[in-house]
Amino acid sequence: MRRLELPQDLLTTPEAVREAGALLAPQLQPGDVLALCGDLGAGKTTLVRGLAEALGVPAEDVASPTFALVHFYHGREIDLVHADLYRIESEAEADAAGLREMLDDEHVIALVEWPESAPGLLPPHTIWLRVDVLPAGRRLVRIAAAP
Ligand SMILES: Nc1ncnc2c1ncn2[C@@H]1O[C@H](COP(=O)(O)OP(=O)(O)OP(=O)(O)O)[C@@H](O)[C@H]1O
Ligand SMILES: [Mg+2]
Repeated sequence: MRRLELPQDLLTTPEAVREAGALLAPQLQPGDVLALCGDLGAGKTTLVRGLAEALGVPAEDVASPTFALVHFYHGREIDLVHADLYRIESEAEADAAGLREMLDDEHVIALVEWPESAPGLLPPHTIWLRVDVLPAGRRLVRIAAAP
């Protein structure tokens, strides 16, 4: 698996998490799938916002797609798929909604929140990340093991 350079320091503000996303952006390429694990409110969407913004997507366009399953964004040079599987009842439901095909699209970068809800739909080349919540509102972004 490709090694991503991640911020080593603790991220004390949402802005720092956005910057972490911006740091990831130039390391990604078409076809990449980033799985973002972490508790409710950990900062997954905040990270996606920073990443998308660095690719030319207006930050305000990036919302948690919790109620839509998937959002699409047009970046300057690449499009993004932003999925949130928190509310799906089963992997079959996400599959029926076309998630597998969306994640197989080699022209886009895909970002998936709550990937644990449908791990079977994530391709083998998925890069798994975790946003940990630490005391005093700090966050740590690290590589996670695939489930
Ligand atoms: N150091 C920090 N980094 C990121 N967010 C922080 C930090 N401290 C506090 N917050 C707050 O935590 C929340 C993170 O929200 P965000 O929507 O990014 O989380 P999420 O992981 O996507 O949650 P969900 O599982 O509900 O989708 C925001 O309200 C933000 O203001
Ligand atoms: Mg979110």
